[in-house]
Amino acid sequence: MTKVLFKGSAMLNPVPVALITSINKEGTANVFTVGWIGTACTKPPMITVAIRPERLSYEYIKETKEFVVNLPAKSLVKEVDYCGVRSGKVVDKINKLNFTLEKSEMVNSPIIKECPIALECKLKEIIPLGTHDLFLAEIISVHVEEELIDKNGKIHFEKANLMCYSHGEYFPIPEKSIGKFGFSVQKKKTKTRRK
Ligand SMILES: Cc1cc2nc3c(=O)[nH]c(=O)nc-3n(C[C@H](O)[C@H](O)[C@H](O)COP(=O)(O)O)c2cc1C
Repeated sequence: MTKVLFKGSAMLNPVPVALITSINKEGTANVFTVGWIGTACTKPPMITVAIRPERLSYEYIKETKEFVVNLPAKSLVKEVDYCGVRSGKVVDKINKLNFTLEKSEMVNSPIIKECPIALECKLKEIIPLGTHDLFLAEIISVHVEEELIDKNGKIHFEKANLMCYSHGEYFPIPEKSIGKFGFSVQKKKTKTRRK
């Protein structure tokens, strides 16, 4: 492979795409799209979200120190895009897009019913970086659409029809896996067992 050099930039692609719901002190809710979101720690379960200070959501999350990460199915791609190009400062996106809001368990920010997965988060720290500030948050409750959970309690994210974002475009995540965690070092099962 022959690679071409690019100037240093945030070229990590693809990334997950999520709808973050938040609320201000008066109880007004807002939703916006994020792509710069990542897992940071298993115990305690922590995530990071990079947010520009000019977003209305920045103001809300800083004020109430909580938010919900809603993972949208690909059928919501238009709504996801809209929430990423229009600010809650000028339009009530939740009403305009007819999102159904559900009560969260541990935070006041609402969950979007139309999304199959929701993570309730408590803000721990804001780290200023430059254009974006890094919001470090703990996941305190997780909601998963029951149809995605099999009889053994395993969650099948691949059945949620989630999407990702790569360099300006949205892509569906294929349902078929190409390998399992640890499969590269797994010993082959003996095909014929001794009787
Ligand atoms: C696919 C996509 C990903 C985005 N990711 C981020 C992000 O990670 N951080 C951010 O601050 N803005 C991000 N944006 C831009 C905001 O979603 C957008 O400015 C939005 O209108 C802010 O809404 P608000 O002012 O109601 O909070 C993204 C937009 C799109 C379309």
